[in-house]
Amino acid sequence: MATEEATRRAAELRAQIADHNYRYHVLVLPIVTDAEYDAMARELIALEDSFPELVTADSPTQQVGSRTGDAFAPVRHVERLMSLDNVDSLESLEAWRDRLARALEREPDGYACEMKIDGLAVSLTYQSGVLARGATRGDGTTGEDITANVRTIASIPLTLAAGAPEVLEVRGEIYMPVSAFADLNRRQLDKGEKPYVNPRNTAAGSVRQKDPNKTADRNLSIWIYQLGHTVGAPTFECHSEAMQWLGDLGFPINPDSAVVADIAGIEEYVEAALRYRHDRDYEIDGVVIKADALADQTAAGFTAKSPRWAIAYKLPPEEKSTILEDIKINVGRTGAVTPYAVLEGVFVGGVTVTSATLHNEGEVQRKDVRIGDTVIVRRAGDVIPEVVGPILDRRPAGAKVWKMPARCPFCNNPIVLAEGEAKAKCTGGFECPSRLREYLFHFASRGAMDIEGLGYKTVDTLLVNGIITDPADIFSLDRAALLELEGWGEISVNNLLGAIEGAKERPLARLLTALGIRMIGGTVAETLAGHFRSLERILGAAPEELEEIDGVGPEISRSLAEWTADDANRQLVEKLLTAGVRTSDPEPAPTDTSLAGFTVVITGTLEDFTRDSAKAAVVDRGAKVTGSVSGKTSFLVAGVAAGSKLAKAEQLGVRVIAEADFKRLLAEGPAAIGLTTE
Ligand code: IVH
Repeated sequence: MATEEATRRAAELRAQIADHNYRYHVLVLPIVTDAEYDAMARELIALEDSFPELVTADSPTQQVGSRTGDAFAPVRHVERLMSLDNVDSLESLEAWRDRLARALEREPDGYACEMKIDGLAVSLTYQSGVLARGATRGDGTTGEDITANVRTIASIPLTLAAGAPEVLEVRGEIYMPVSAFADLNRRQLDKGEKPYVNPRNTAAGSVRQKDPNKTADRNLSIWIYQLGHTVGAPTFECHSEAMQWLGDLGFPINPDSAVVADIAGIEEYVEAALRYRHDRDYEIDGVVIKADALADQTAAGFTAKSPRWAIAYKLPPEEKSTILEDIKINVGRTGAVTPYAVLEGVFVGGVTVTSATLHNEGEVQRKDVRIGDTVIVRRAGDVIPEVVGPILDRRPAGAKVWKMPARCPFCNNPIVLAEGEAKAKCTGGFECPSRLREYLFHFASRGAMDIEGLGYKTVDTLLVNGIITDPADIFSLDRAALLELEGWGEISVNNLLGAIEGAKERPLARLLTALGIRMIGGTVAETLAGHFRSLERILGAAPEELEEIDGVGPEISRSLAEWTADDANRQLVEKLLTAGVRTSDPEPAPTDTSLAGFTVVITGTLEDFTRDSAKAAVVDRGAKVTGSVSGKTSFLVAGVAAGSKLAKAEQLGVRVIAEADFKRLLAEGPAAIGLTTE
């Protein structure tokens, strides 16, 4: 078979197999027999054997969890595993309590407070007291069968005490004890291997081991926090009573749980949790509060994705102290220079932090952090770690004051701080390899020109080999030069060049985002592109004209003017035009205006839409899309894992629409789901 034919067939097989995997694992509605599926998989394996250059990282042959062989089988949960809404302040906690009290028309009858264990949710099913199945949460509806692995977790009972019902499903959190994590990392380091980053990810990886012996070796543990589906179980008045019963049957129930009467009790519990969170052998990421009376739970019910009768209170960011070993700088895609602290590794907020941003020179001075200082580092959730400040009592005699270097360490051009600005800039333009690297990475990224295969690794290769010296060079890459690169073959070069060719046709908003103009991200770029429809017109627009546009203020217009005034940027635009990059959008065809007058917010993950395509669908019908819920919002489209916006909408009484209704709305218009603009 010719390479071309093989490439085509492999892509076809990959797409088909991915589709069948989805139907089998997620929809649980396979449309081919196992034998047919196997035949496809075998054909792909054979093709990839004969043409190894065709193997892609995302090929189903490279993935674990394929449909046959050693996969974890899908498990449909009898009752959906819900997630919890979050609050992060006492005010929003009180607002939750108020909503609950309103729904019940009285104060709830006591609250069960529990630690929110930072691990992974599992469902365990017992048949007549014997562990029959363990499953991951998955998407809440369908998880994966990990029975063999959960059997190895010592705190999970294999058989229950007398009195177990016919069917008993419990939910809980598998976690890696802090001590087991420390032990594991000690062993890793002894072997000269890389330490694991945090207990949660390590626990998640451990339960998905193909070999249960490996799971057993990780010393995982569990706390059970919820009763699930049962047949033949006694009835209970409250959650805490059910937990007590589960404890009697042999399940590990966290002794830190407590029942309190009112909001003051909840606040006391939260304060206590903050005090002793580090004395425990498990990590927590919050506190869970549940209406204790099961009658209250039933009366309060559920929203699309979570119970109204429970809430997760996120704990404030964690702080730890460590040594500031050095201060270095980064040059970002705009040339902005950001100092950052090089830290002695410290485990904080669930990860090992080795560097933290210091924002700008003024910040370094204001905080008075010096090289050699012991500093406080803070990290919350996914947020970038930051240095809070030095512990002055521990300042060593030789602590060194840091100053912004006069010249860029990457390109040796002067670093300047413009009057009135907080951030210094490298003046090297695209001569600066650090700036160019960040710029290219951004330029090719998903929300921008979306050039597949052009991540940091490829960017670095192109830069190191002198193949690219400014962003527009991407569009005139020399095929022969690429083919000479080590490890690059015909296929990878074709793939990259194909992706780049495709990027020439991106909509204007993507190109505008890719240019990386300060203050012009995806949303503003959409607005500008929608209004002007051509890059030339945007760059030539007068400030007054710009500021008349809804969502464009003086700062944005100033930023555009500054960008356009820069020779290097103008040359870049010229080069992009010469390379044949599309810089204008066609005039829109007249479309339907069924949603004119509606203001819409979209949140969460939708199954059949990306955020962009959902947005485009409503904008195309004349609606306005905004980023936050307010009194002006007509409705909120809420996908899976919708968070604070959903809570806000409920609080304001804004109509919430799930994906199924959203599709009807698009297909049949607002009346079909009872919506009006009033
Ligand atoms: S109750 C319907 N209790 O937090 C009630 N969840 O976003 C569902 N979690 O997926 C959960 N500790 O993995 C509950 N004491 C606790 C918990 C807890 C940790 C996790 C659980 C869930 C997530 C909620």
